[in-house]
Amino acid sequence: MFATRFQQFGYRHIAKPIFFRCDPEKVHDVINIVGKILGRYTITRKATEILFAYKHPSLQSTILGMKFSNPVGLSAGFDKNGELTDLMPSVGFGFEEIGSITGESCEGNQKPRLWRLPKSKALIVYYGLKNDGCEAIAKRLKQKTFSIPIGTSIAKTNSPKTVPADAAIADYKKAFQAFATIGDYFTINISCPNAFGGEPFADPERLEQLLSELDTVATTKPIFLKFAADISTSEIDTLVQVADHHRVHGFILTNLTKNRNNPQIHQQELDHVGKGGISGKPVADLSNTLISHLYKTVGKRYVLIGVGGIFSAQDAYKKIQRGASLVQLITGMIYEGPQLIGQINHDLKELLKKDGYKNIQQAIGTYKE
Ligand SMILES: Cc1cc2nc3c(=O)[nH]c(=O)nc-3n(C[C@H](O)[C@H](O)[C@H](O)COP(=O)(O)O)c2cc1C
Repeated sequence: MFATRFQQFGYRHIAKPIFFRCDPEKVHDVINIVGKILGRYTITRKATEILFAYKHPSLQSTILGMKFSNPVGLSAGFDKNGELTDLMPSVGFGFEEIGSITGESCEGNQKPRLWRLPKSKALIVYYGLKNDGCEAIAKRLKQKTFSIPIGTSIAKTNSPKTVPADAAIADYKKAFQAFATIGDYFTINISCPNAFGGEPFADPERLEQLLSELDTVATTKPIFLKFAADISTSEIDTLVQVADHHRVHGFILTNLTKNRNNPQIHQQELDHVGKGGISGKPVADLSNTLISHLYKTVGKRYVLIGVGGIFSAQDAYKKIQRGASLVQLITGMIYEGPQLIGQINHDLKELLKKDGYKNIQQAIGTYKE
């Protein structure tokens, strides 16, 4: 892990100070371009893998028929158009979620729409589901083979046209159909805080309608629902009861938080930002609480994926011990650098060993309150 410490030093003291002086969305765009180029050639993929990836048998698992070399995934929103699927395995991710992808292409909300809150270790996100649309992205990915499980996050197009429930459901269905045979699992994103019409499918009746319609599309892929961070345990129970009657295999906990009074947020950092949801550390406890709750109530029937504020192996392990079979992140990587993924996997292996577990499965749900 000497190499990782060296990369961590390089990121903290060279790359990050440069990145953090530039507009966050521009940096994201440049990273995507570089990532696409590095993913194109065997030699650059191999070099990235040697520099970043960490592998160990104790981190492997098979979940819903998918084989994961490690439990750490890239969360939805970083690779919106599925352009980094060649490179992400070399960075060390065990899986990746592309999107969110919508029925129609969408420019997203007006810029600026991404801000950093460094003291709070958070981002304000107001992208508004910018993506190339399901047809263009599906066309690009159709012939591809993936070396890690790829999830497709589906949402409804951010437009006044999808505010009526019927139009919204048709939009989700269009994207769902386009990806029925591409990738390994689906996520139905019902918790984007930044789009026209809010989050209508967090309402049980509407969710029932949406899931009934998606049930009519033939697919063998597992399906996850992604919940908001600010939902109460009783609200989540009601939504899970809806999911019980449909083709849903698991839940992703959670999306961004909207609560600006979150104790993790340094309030003075909010003076110069616009509207949007908050990622990173402010999401961590919210997500952990919901993971614990769902693991206790429905953990035997559903697979849980934990996301929100993972900056270290300890953060990931907390989610696993509370009941998550897999974890995802974005913000931690932006603050700590791409070597964080290998570091988390290395340190997770050590945590498993310290606690006497032979593999990651043995640690799931072991947290005692
Ligand atoms: C820049 C950015 C864009 C995001 N876009 C999406 C999205 O399109 N769909 C989605 O389900 N979640 C999206 N999210 C939420 C993340 O997937 C994740 O749930 C949240 O950021 C918490 O994880 P983190 O603290 O590791 O970033 C986005 C997050 C960020 C930071």
